[in-house]
Amino acid sequence: MPIITNDINLVADSLMQHDVAAIPTETVYGLAGNIFSEKAIRRIYEVKQRPLFNPLIVHIHDVSEMEKVASAIPPLAQALAEKFWPGPLTLLLPKKDSVPDLITAGKDTVAVRVPNHPVTLSLLQQLPFPLAAPSANPFGSISPTTAEHVASYFKDEFPYILDGGACKKGIESTIIGFNEDGAIIYRYGSLAIEEIENITGPLQEYIRNEENPDAPGMLLRHYAPATTTILSSDIKKSIAENTGRKIGLMLFRDTYTNGQVTVVETLSASGSMEEAASNLYAAMHRLDHHQLDIIIAERFPDKGLGRSINDRLQRATHP
Ligand code: TXA
Ligand code: MG
Repeated sequence: MPIITNDINLVADSLMQHDVAAIPTETVYGLAGNIFSEKAIRRIYEVKQRPLFNPLIVHIHDVSEMEKVASAIPPLAQALAEKFWPGPLTLLLPKKDSVPDLITAGKDTVAVRVPNHPVTLSLLQQLPFPLAAPSANPFGSISPTTAEHVASYFKDEFPYILDGGACKKGIESTIIGFNEDGAIIYRYGSLAIEEIENITGPLQEYIRNEENPDAPGMLLRHYAPATTTILSSDIKKSIAENTGRKIGLMLFRDTYTNGQVTVVETLSASGSMEEAASNLYAAMHRLDHHQLDIIIAERFPDKGLGRSINDRLQRATHP
């Protein structure tokens, strides 16, 4: 297992030696490497078993660093960066030639964000290069929101996991791109689109396309538990339809006490979507370890972070 540590210097040294390391962010843990090290970047793809056509997000420590990786930054992008960074927003920007094609999978845009986590911000400040970091899970499985989740996924593929506690937001960053007409939503995430639209006006929908997955976070099946999972708007009915099976429930705010279910995860007893989002993946991880026949997940109200949660649930339940 990789070693879980609080020692930022130790992890910085390891990254300087072209190793990869798991790092905390406010959304999910990332598997990080020096964007200019071909060795480190190849290792990220290898460790994740991630296809090379799936580009990586570049993490920087300040808005001012954006110009080091991007050029011709659209004014809307600048405005969003200034408003929401550090924070769970990734911007797709025209890339500088100096950014290796391996990072962007040959695209002419680069994905950039400033993560809002004190440990990783100080790590980034200390390093002379930005960090490319996809979520620190094997391709297709649930993203990790604790150092222990990361440790459970890997044997000794890389030396260190930098511990930053449980991720406060709990689902990945929202991804926004740009065209002549304005801003485009590529991936629903921890920043609610209503907040973004206050600045950009109505977002354009990215046209989903399995053949050309610009953002494989948009693949129909992704973020999936190993256990069969269904999405339900009528929990009682779904339970009745699965009598005799070992059922796990994942509910928004209700607690359900009925002999017919083996285990219940309530995401936010107080009905907070923020809290529900931060608990979502940890609850999926726990449910996945109960040897259940089926997980029944409750559909969320389709607004604010509820949209992002429904998006992840839909992908987790796609057959
Ligand atoms: O919250 C997050 O964004 C986390 C933390 C670690 O920062 N990272 C993350 O990375 O979720 P990853 O690799 O799991 O998801 C990145 C997504 C992928 O779906 C990828 O296809 C998309 O970003 N992406 C990256 N560069 C892109 C580009 N130039 N054009 C379109 N999509 C891009
Ligand atoms: Mg991911």
